[in-house]
Amino acid sequence: MKHLLSLEQLSRADMEAILSRVPAFKGHRAQHPRPLSGQTWAMVFSKSSTRTRVSFEVGIHELGGRPLFLSAADIQLGRGEPIKDTARVLGRMVHGAVIRTFAQSEVADFAAYSGIPTVNALTDDEHPCQILTDIFTFEEMRGPIAGRVVTFVGDGACNVPSSWIWAAARLGFELRIAAPKAYQPSPALLARAGGRIVCTEDLRAAAEGADLLYTDVWVSMGKESETQQRLKDLATYQVNAALVRLATPEALVMHCLPAYRGKEIDSETFEAHADTIFSQAENRLHVQKAALDWLVS
Ligand code: CP
Ligand code: NVA
Repeated sequence: MKHLLSLEQLSRADMEAILSRVPAFKGHRAQHPRPLSGQTWAMVFSKSSTRTRVSFEVGIHELGGRPLFLSAADIQLGRGEPIKDTARVLGRMVHGAVIRTFAQSEVADFAAYSGIPTVNALTDDEHPCQILTDIFTFEEMRGPIAGRVVTFVGDGACNVPSSWIWAAARLGFELRIAAPKAYQPSPALLARAGGRIVCTEDLRAAAEGADLLYTDVWVSMGKESETQQRLKDLATYQVNAALVRLATPEALVMHCLPAYRGKEIDSETFEAHADTIFSQAENRLHVQKAALDWLVS
């Protein structure tokens, strides 16, 4: 049985198998196959979501299935029922699950105990559906990502850059992470991943000649108590016009959203690249439909 728990656990061939299916789903939204026909998929969310929730609910529906949204706050999980018990109950009633939570071990345990295909819809460690979408969006606009330079600016130790690290290792592009030392990925993660990954505090050097400038929030969900410290520590790690000028003339600017203008990206740069950023958001729907199709095939 296939799961989509992390990019770490996906091979290059798996990533390519998912990405290659996307145009069929994006191009024929009304007529594509319905591989989830007759199925119910649970969506267990312990954190807030706009894009992920809507794209999975709409995507599962368009694939012929029924999405069943379960906020952790409303089910017994939120009152302390273990994930392995929740998994064993849902595994006997539904056909697949999409989980947004804190610890990566929770999605791994859910997959192990439920016996149904399980998708990571964001954990503290990874956001695989987002980065698969970002790669699709880059390639749709600029061609193959292999051999290109992707620069991530901001909190380099959170879920989004971690998934970028695995994508770079598998797909053969250079990833530069511009972040203060305390916000750089752990040496253990970098050693495990391999690939061409450069971590630096030198924001300008990281942006020089980049094909893609990418940022994410400075305060990820679950880190709210560190807000003041993070705003101070990350204050200069912003994507703005001065930084964009250092990248290639054709460079794309992306943001996984939600965006905090004046923090990780300034308002003018965000609006100048809004078409790319909202195409990226739309592509969550198409890429996740392709991923679900791959999972059940
Ligand atoms: N990018 C993303 O995952 O957005 P949501 O938190 O709104 O789902
Ligand atoms: N790093 C962010 C991503 C939001 C989509 C978070 O975890 O809150």
